[in-house]
Amino acid sequence: MIARIRGNSKIEGEITVGGAKNSSLPILASLVLISEEIKIEKIPDISDVSEMISMIRSAGIAVNFEKNTVSARPSNLKGEIREFGSSIRASILLLGPLAVRTGHAELRYPGGCLIGKRSIDIHIEGLKKLGISVNEKNDMIEAVFDKVPEDVRIDLRFPSVGATEHLMMTSVLLNGIHTEIRNCAKEPEIVDLGKFLNSMGAKISGVGTDRISIDGVKKLNASVHSVIGDRIETGTYIIGALSSGGMLKINGISNNVMRNVTNELKKIGAKITASENALIVYPSDLRPFKLSTGPYPQFPTDLQPQMTLLACHVNGHSEITETVFEQRFGHVDELKKMGADISVDKNKIEVMPSKLHGAKLVGNDLRETATILFAAATADGPSEIEKFEIIFRGYENIYKKLKDIGIDFEILKIDREVS
Ligand code: EPZ
Repeated sequence: MIARIRGNSKIEGEITVGGAKNSSLPILASLVLISEEIKIEKIPDISDVSEMISMIRSAGIAVNFEKNTVSARPSNLKGEIREFGSSIRASILLLGPLAVRTGHAELRYPGGCLIGKRSIDIHIEGLKKLGISVNEKNDMIEAVFDKVPEDVRIDLRFPSVGATEHLMMTSVLLNGIHTEIRNCAKEPEIVDLGKFLNSMGAKISGVGTDRISIDGVKKLNASVHSVIGDRIETGTYIIGALSSGGMLKINGISNNVMRNVTNELKKIGAKITASENALIVYPSDLRPFKLSTGPYPQFPTDLQPQMTLLACHVNGHSEITETVFEQRFGHVDELKKMGADISVDKNKIEVMPSKLHGAKLVGNDLRETATILFAAATADGPSEIEKFEIIFRGYENIYKKLKDIGIDFEILKIDREVS
């Protein structure tokens, strides 16, 4: 798909963000653990969610998804899912829970954005401690639940978001077993997942800290849950508005989950006010900055490409260090095509003030495509973005939202197979 963006826009207006993609995906994966009907609200209508729903349906969960609400009912579960899952990273989260419930699981090797090696060694090491042996063959990954373990302690070598979620979900139904996971990730999406599991009767404590304890239960009960707002979608729009000097109101987001981002932006001069469930960004005089990404509560790597764009629009030399993914720099080449004065040395991006002009661009991963979309919207002259369809993976109602904030675009070409 090729999109043509007019350029010379000021990003301003009002939008409502959807539920968090990175909360919805683990929550949907955990539906293979249910024994009763479950309802989940504020699930965003994006293609990664559709892929995950296809996976859990293939595992035997009856899922109805309409108006951002998922209703799920259990039926006879099967552990082998061969036709879906290779396009998303979160598919790995099904491996442990399906192995515990059915004894054997087989999935496509997980996909996801090409921003680094994205190995799964931390997941596999933790599963082994939970009595699950894993082997990888060709593009499949297989897990067998060999034996119920004694009480378990897992020390993560890195606070991996996915591994923390995966091992928490896998421990929930180890009835009578106490599992302790240390050096956990603390992202708000993990807290949301823990809240959801506990609402069904799981016994999890410490979520949001670096030490999570789970006391396995026999079964989970019915529940209704509403997913938190998407802080990365919100941050993308905030940074887009700041880079164009527009005023933007964003509804549907709690300031609690945005605080580590908005505090960082306020430090460089951003004017942002917050009420209970909305944020307003005002035109701001921004100062050059030095920023490093890291596990929560450090600045999120998923907003690093967007901050690289913002650095082009501030008057002075800025420096951004990426510490989470070893190859999250694809957006730099695209911004350079637009005239950005950027250099990368190992994992440090140096940016000088740059006047961006339109260009022919290519999206490579989700947050990069969002970044070049906003770069094109405010650049001098039109741009074309190839592989624009990537944006549908994680940005809900993108057509309506872009129109609501004054970005003029048209779809030039739709490939036969829009993946
Ligand atoms: C989650 O990915 C998010 N995805 C990512 O968002 C986000 O960037 C990332 O967390 C960090 O916050 C979802 O939640 C679906 P990690 P995940 O495990 O779980 C290495 C987006 O744009 N690692 O915390 O894959 C890994 O290679 C996406 O929405 C291992 O080496 O992140 C990376 O360098 C992009 N071995 C680092 O740890 C492992 O077993 C962080 O990965 C696992 C991870």
